[in-house]
Amino acid sequence: MTEPVENPARPTAVIVLAAGNGTRMKSKLMKVLHPLGGRTMIGHVLTAAQGADPRWLVTVVGHGRDQVGEHVRAQVPDAVIAVQETQEGTAQAVRVGLEALRASAGTTDGVVVVMSGDTPLLEADTLRGLVGDHAGSGRAVTVLTGEVADPTGYGRVIRGPGGAVSAIVEEKDATAAQRAVPEISSGIFAFDGAFLAEALPLVRNDNAKGEYYLPDVVALAVDKGRGVGAFRIDDVVQTEGANDRAQLAGLAAELNRRVLLRWMRDGVTVVDPASTWVDVTVSLARDVTLRPGVQLHGATTVAEDAVIGPDCTLTDVQVGERAQVVRTHGSGAVIGAGATVGPFSYLRPGTMLGAAGKIGGFVETKNARIADSAKVPHLSYVGDAEIGEGANIGAGTIFANYDGVKKHRTKVGRQFRGGSNNVFVAPVEVGDGAATGGGTVVRSDVPPGALAVSAGPQRVIEGWTARKRPGTPMAEAAEAARAEGGRIEADGVPEGPLGDQRGQEESPA
Ligand code: UD1
Ligand code: CA
Repeated sequence: MTEPVENPARPTAVIVLAAGNGTRMKSKLMKVLHPLGGRTMIGHVLTAAQGADPRWLVTVVGHGRDQVGEHVRAQVPDAVIAVQETQEGTAQAVRVGLEALRASAGTTDGVVVVMSGDTPLLEADTLRGLVGDHAGSGRAVTVLTGEVADPTGYGRVIRGPGGAVSAIVEEKDATAAQRAVPEISSGIFAFDGAFLAEALPLVRNDNAKGEYYLPDVVALAVDKGRGVGAFRIDDVVQTEGANDRAQLAGLAAELNRRVLLRWMRDGVTVVDPASTWVDVTVSLARDVTLRPGVQLHGATTVAEDAVIGPDCTLTDVQVGERAQVVRTHGSGAVIGAGATVGPFSYLRPGTMLGAAGKIGGFVETKNARIADSAKVPHLSYVGDAEIGEGANIGAGTIFANYDGVKKHRTKVGRQFRGGSNNVFVAPVEVGDGAATGGGTVVRSDVPPGALAVSAGPQRVIEGWTARKRPGTPMAEAAEAARAEGGRIEADGVPEGPLGDQRGQEESPA
C-alpha cells in the first residue's frame, strides 16, 4: 500500500459568516435562512463549502444563533459553530471563527477560506479554483472578484498602477472615482491562515460604519509586503450576494435558469422555462417533459417519459415512468408507472398510486394506498385507505375516516366496483370482487363478492307539483308534458297514494 497523497489544495478550514441580522431583508426570518431553489441561502453556501473538502467547516452565528446553528448542524453535523456575541463587522466575525478553529483544530495554519452566508450561487468548482489558485502561491490572500452590472453596495477592488490589488474599499467609504470601479469583492477569500490570525487584530473600525471590515486585511497584507491576488471570474452571478428580497428574487431566478439549462442538456424537455421552477434537490430522468407552470420541489423525482403539467406543484413526490400528471398539487406521494393524475387533483402525504392507476378530477387523497390499475376517477376524498388492485371507486365517494375523535382506516378489496356517491364510514372493510349500489353508506364490512346497498328506496308521489306548486313555471312545464302525452310511468311503483316503495332487494344502482 502506498501512502495516500495529501491534497495540497485541501483547505484547513472554510469559515462561513452568518451572524449578521440581515436588516435589509426586513424579515423576522434570518437572512441566511431565506430559501431559493430548494435550499436556504446558507444551505447553498454550505454545499459549496463542503465541495472544497475542508478539514473543518466553521460557521459564525450571532443573530438568531439557535435557529441558524441548528439549521447548519442539520446539514453538516460536524460543523464547528462559533458565536459572535455582538456584530461589529466581518473582520471581528472571522476572529471569532478563527478562535473556534484553533480550539478545535489546534492551529489556524494552512489555507483558510472565508465565505459569506448570503452568496448562494457560488459553486464548489469555483471555490476549488480559488483554493487551487491560492495554495502554493505564497500570497497572504486571494480574493474572489467579478465585474457586476450594478456594483452598488459591494466593496470595490482597487488596483495599483501595475494592476496589482492594493485594497478593497467599501461603498460607503469610497470616493466617487472608486465607486466607478466595476470590479467587486465577492466577500469570499482564501487566506494564509497564519497571516490572517496575525492581521485581524490590526484591523481598525475608523470607517463610515464603525465596523471592523474583513476586506481591510487586503491593504494590511500589501503594507506588510505580502502578496495579494484576485481570482476574477467571468460568471459574476456566483459572486453576488443577496442583501434584500429583490436581490434574492434575482438570484433565485438565475439559479432556476441554470438548473433548467442543466436538465435540458441532460435530455429533459422544458416547454416553458420562464414558468417552470425546479429545486436543485429534484432529480429528472431523460425524456421527461415539463409543461408550462410546473414547480418541482424537495426530493421530487421523475422517471423516464413521464409528462408533468401543465400547472403542477409537486413536493417530495416520486413520479414513475410514463406517468401523466396534469394540474395537480401533491406532496409526499408516490405515483406509479403509467399512472394518470389530474386534472385538479390534490395528493397529500402518504398517497401511493400503483402502476397504471388513476386519480382523477377533483379527488383528494391522503394516506391512501391505491393499488395497481385501481381508479378513483371523479370528485372523491380518499383518506386512510387501502384500495385493492383493479378496484374502481364510484364518482363522488367519500372515505369518512374521522369520527370526530380518531382517524380510522378503510380497506377495499381487489376488483371492487363502487356505485356513485358512496360513503365508507371507517373502520370498515370491503372484500375482493364486492360491489356497492349508488348512494350507499357502507357502515359495516362487506364480504367478498357481495353487493351492498343502503340508499332508501325511491318514492314517487304522482301529481305533487300540480297540488303543491300550482301556477308556477314548474307546474306549467309538468302540465304541458302531460298534455303532450309525454307521461313517464313510475317504474315498478303501483298506482296509489303516497309512500309506495319498491323492494330493496331489487334495487342495485
Ligand atoms: C460584504 C463585504 C463587501 C463585499 C460583500 C459581498 C465587508 C465589510 N463587506 O458587504 O466588501 O463586497 O460582502 O457580498 O465585509 N456578518 C457577520 N458578523 C458581522 C457582520 C456581518 O457574521 O459582524 C456576516 C453577515 O451575516 C453576512 C456576511 O457577514 O453573511 C456579510 O455581511 P453583509 O452585511 O452582508 O456585508 P455586505 O454589506 O454585503
Ligand atoms: Ca451581503
